[in-house]
Amino acid sequence: MSAAVFPVPEDWADKALIGEDSYAERYARSIADPDGFWREEAKRITWLEPFDTVKDTSFDKADFHIRWFTGGKLNICANALDRHLVERGEQIAIIWEPDSPGDPVRRITYRELHRDVSRFANALKERGVAKGDRVTIYLPMVPEAAIAMLACARIGAIHSVVFAGFSPDALAGRIEDCGSRIVVTADEGLRGGKTVPLKANVDAALEKVAVDTVVVFNHTGADVPMVEGRDVSWSDAVAGVAEDCAPEPMDAEDPLFILYTSGSTGKPKGVLHTTGGYAVWTSMTHQYVFDYQPNEDGSMPVYWCAADVGWVTGHSYVVYAPLMNGATQVMFEGVPNFPDHSRFWDIVDKHQVEIFYAAPTALRALMREGDEYVTRTSRASLKLLGSVGEPINPEAWDWYHRVVGERRCPIVDTWWQTETGGAMITPLPGAIDLKPGSASKPMFGVQPALLDAESGKVLEGAGQGALVITDSWPGQMRTVYGDDQRFFDTYFSQYPGYYFTGDGCRRDEDGYYWITGRIDDVINVSGHRMGTAEVESALVEHPSVAEAAVVGMPHEVKGQGIYAYVTTTAGTDDSEDLRKELVQWVRKEIGPIATPDVIQFAPSLPKTRSGKIMRRILRKIAENDTGSLGDTSTLADPSVVEDLVANRPQA
Ligand code: WTA
Repeated sequence: MSAAVFPVPEDWADKALIGEDSYAERYARSIADPDGFWREEAKRITWLEPFDTVKDTSFDKADFHIRWFTGGKLNICANALDRHLVERGEQIAIIWEPDSPGDPVRRITYRELHRDVSRFANALKERGVAKGDRVTIYLPMVPEAAIAMLACARIGAIHSVVFAGFSPDALAGRIEDCGSRIVVTADEGLRGGKTVPLKANVDAALEKVAVDTVVVFNHTGADVPMVEGRDVSWSDAVAGVAEDCAPEPMDAEDPLFILYTSGSTGKPKGVLHTTGGYAVWTSMTHQYVFDYQPNEDGSMPVYWCAADVGWVTGHSYVVYAPLMNGATQVMFEGVPNFPDHSRFWDIVDKHQVEIFYAAPTALRALMREGDEYVTRTSRASLKLLGSVGEPINPEAWDWYHRVVGERRCPIVDTWWQTETGGAMITPLPGAIDLKPGSASKPMFGVQPALLDAESGKVLEGAGQGALVITDSWPGQMRTVYGDDQRFFDTYFSQYPGYYFTGDGCRRDEDGYYWITGRIDDVINVSGHRMGTAEVESALVEHPSVAEAAVVGMPHEVKGQGIYAYVTTTAGTDDSEDLRKELVQWVRKEIGPIATPDVIQFAPSLPKTRSGKIMRRILRKIAENDTGSLGDTSTLADPSVVEDLVANRPQA
């Protein structure tokens, strides 16, 4: 752990929305008087009808419920667009930077975005989409992704965005689970100069599950087959529809979106977020964490969150919060290393980005390429840097701070989850001294606690344990779509009365929180959540695989890599070819983000006498920490372990 402390720079302390004293004061109030605190914060939203009750929540089994701002009515799309039209209709909302730097940039004003969203909303209605219907969105990082999401929100349809890197199978599963009858996609995506066959993937998915309509945005202009009666191009869908679309008044607790995420067991869960609490929570956290306020000349700072809209960071901090806060933001289609490793910083210079928010995995990958790719760019516009998605190691933090930000930009290391809707533990740049590698202090309204993982007892003061949250916050997920029981069981049953995050955490003497990573069977590969069970079930679907066990392994760039132990069926040749085939198989079943880094053929797996796989031991072997395998006496056959250690592939 790093002992370094970086105090709040003086200019930040002077001008930030939240300074040191106001952080302490507001935090205390948010806990002591949630009603008063949130009543005040909720004023940032335009409500169509005022709410009666601020907070009506209980984590107790007998009386479990989570409701915020009940009775209130609002439309989040109108909060993101309509209410800006008078004052900032001509302001640029989205600066779209294409995959290839030579291709034209698109600049979209709030007025244009409002028009395009309204038209697409009407097009959805014309195809029979009504309030409460689910709409699956499978699009690359193009403005149409935000337009489609906002159009759903405008008419009260529930969007389910599926990351465009997921396979047809993964897409089919997500369409089926939420029962959507419509998919919005593109002909192709573009990443690092390569095309991604999105429409072809949709066609493959729709061999498994049927929908009525596929809307295809013409992005690369590829000639893709269209199914008569089912498929329609985006331009045909919006041709001739009205430009006016009144936003649907939504109850605060009406569903806004479903986003699938991986857990310890079973299929990915459809995390459901609702409208009012999410709107207040995301816009508040975005404003305070990024100190998002007008520059001295009245312009809005150029903000760039490099996350894909397929993940929660893209939902909260690309689409909803920045637009609610009237931001001008960059949306980037491509990757950090195309055409070369300066791309991020070239974009910063090109669009004069002031606030930049990205994942540690991208930073680590760029750090390896040397400082020259950074230092040859100016980056003079940068004021604030952010990190999200996985623990940032102090070395990467230092590089980000020293080389990218030239020591003048604070780094906000924001810890949160798909389930939490927005940032939960995070520095505020004008209020909290930074410690590299620590997400620092809780956001307003968030009460973290550490529990002893075994006994479940609350740990006071400095210590390490399971990270839980003791009370509800407005942006909390409300349920697993279609499965309230699974919601309760997953998050509230392990430590009764608490929301269990799945993360381990250390708290130091100054009350700073240091996330140590997942302590359940979830691994974090390049900031993407992956359930080990998902990769295992993909592997065992291969005819040559009898059994599989998957664990995380440390990986220099990805944070964690995927290590798979595979027992093949009798008579199978455990060949190099089969190993390659299995890697391709998993990529096809789930998507490239699930590519196994190591596959070790294992004649058998270490099991207890009752047949339970001992993952603790498999993790140690994957980590190459075979000197301390711990107690193996409960194993049915201890020699299995010796065999695995002896045959560990040297990566
Ligand atoms: C991890 C992404 C350390 C954590 C917003 C969490 C982090 C999981 C951080 C959620 C951070 C996210 N420091 N770990 N700043 N941010 N994580 O749902 O393990 O994709 O539980 O949400 O990422 O991943 P998810």
